[in-house]
Amino acid sequence: MGKAKMFKIRGIDSFPNVFQNPHFTNPVLKNFEGTELNLKGKWRSDVFKNNHPIVMELACGKGDYALALAKKYPQKNFIGVDTKGARLYTGAKNALEAKLDNLFFARMRIENIMLFFDAAEIDEIWITFPDPFPRKKDGKRRLTAPAFIKRYQQICKPGATVHFKTDDLPLFHFTKESIDELGLKMLYYKEDIYSAPLEFEELEIKTYYERQHLADGRTINYLAFQL
Ligand SMILES: C[S@@+](CC[C@H](N)C(=O)[O-])C[C@H]1O[C@@H](n2cnc3c(N)ncnc32)[C@H](O)[C@@H]1O
Repeated sequence: MGKAKMFKIRGIDSFPNVFQNPHFTNPVLKNFEGTELNLKGKWRSDVFKNNHPIVMELACGKGDYALALAKKYPQKNFIGVDTKGARLYTGAKNALEAKLDNLFFARMRIENIMLFFDAAEIDEIWITFPDPFPRKKDGKRRLTAPAFIKRYQQICKPGATVHFKTDDLPLFHFTKESIDELGLKMLYYKEDIYSAPLEFEELEIKTYYERQHLADGRTINYLAFQL
């Protein structure tokens, strides 16, 4: 591992806006002081210290969506979730510099979110450019596979919206199949969103990966469904 990456991974240990699950087999979250916390059901009372809705960005990488939305909506709380410390470093550092008190980051595996969030604790989810896992045998690892959507149902309010943005059309179609298989309601579905004026200003936000895909001439797709 390069020195810069190592520096970032160590760096987030001291960030007050990051909680980490260091060992994925042990369901414990640590804060910047190394204190072990049980935040399940307590994110509003103990972390945000308000009663505002909580929006989660899953596989957030550098947290571009969470950052932009947190600036746009100070009356909502945001949590960016990813496993990769070096990527979270960038988002968490930007959030600290922008003095955002409505945005935190959680380093954990999305497979384990039910261990750290209570039933109905989350109001809305964004999933932005997750790995497509194109091989059929890896289908279960896709973040919009039915088993993952069932995890989101366990921590979200009934009727919560999941937003999904990807450049990968096979993954986009796979996601529609998952939604159909679970009998959930599609709220919006559009391939190649930039081919026409955008209907929601949130879609103008572009992540690190999205910017790379656009530079490569790829088209971007967006759908939203209800849990
Ligand atoms: C292709 S990147 C996209 C990052 C960001 N959303 C963007 O658009 O720039 C996918 C991210 O998903 C994260 N990821 C993949 N599987 C995960 C899992 N099971 N739990 C947590 N994070 C995961 C990776 O660490 C990586 O940062």
